[in-house]
Amino acid sequence: MKEINSIESYNAKIKNVIITEQEIKDAVKKAGKEIDAIYDGTPILLVSILKGSFVFMADICRAVSVPCEIGFMCAKSYYEGTVSSGVVRITMDLDRDISNYHVVIVEDIVDTGRTLTDITTILKARSPRSLRVVTLLDKPSRRLVDFRPDIALFTIPDYFVIGYGLDCAEYYRNLPYIAEYNQAED
Ligand code: IMP
Ligand code: MG
Repeated sequence: MKEINSIESYNAKIKNVIITEQEIKDAVKKAGKEIDAIYDGTPILLVSILKGSFVFMADICRAVSVPCEIGFMCAKSYYEGTVSSGVVRITMDLDRDISNYHVVIVEDIVDTGRTLTDITTILKARSPRSLRVVTLLDKPSRRLVDFRPDIALFTIPDYFVIGYGLDCAEYYRNLPYIAEYNQAED
């Protein structure tokens, strides 16, 4: 990504809104109800995969009514820009033993599927009572490994997207909607 040297060049990278703030709100509410129905009053541990899912986590944790604890893990796969390095690294781990928990991983997007394949393998080895994955976005056309989230709020085409937690070179996470990133001139 080129250096951002003006607010105009920053704004010019926001190509078009593909999911509005209201559409996200409605889908999060629905997903919260789905999670409530699955766990039916049983306590859960929501695990946010940082940084991308921090906004989604803040909303989904308030959309569920089952008793819930929250945890954070940091995994990095895209180090800069829009090209995957193909390497997943856990840079910050959970702070507790999960063997007594029904764990729900909260992710921003499933792209190649590598990040969640690795994270679910690592967490399953710690013998949680159960493990499910809820993702805000799913880009199934980009899959390199077979990974299926239990709940996906939106399925999107092969666009590089920004906003609502998702970044391009760390910018745009604070947009309240999901937009397509304009890769022209990058
Ligand atoms: P995967 O391992 O290829 O499934 O990559 C998942 C991670 O890549 C996500 O958690 C995001 O952080 C990042 N990622 C994938 N696609 C996008 C995108 O369109 N915009 C921003 N980040 C993305
Ligand atoms: Mg992420």
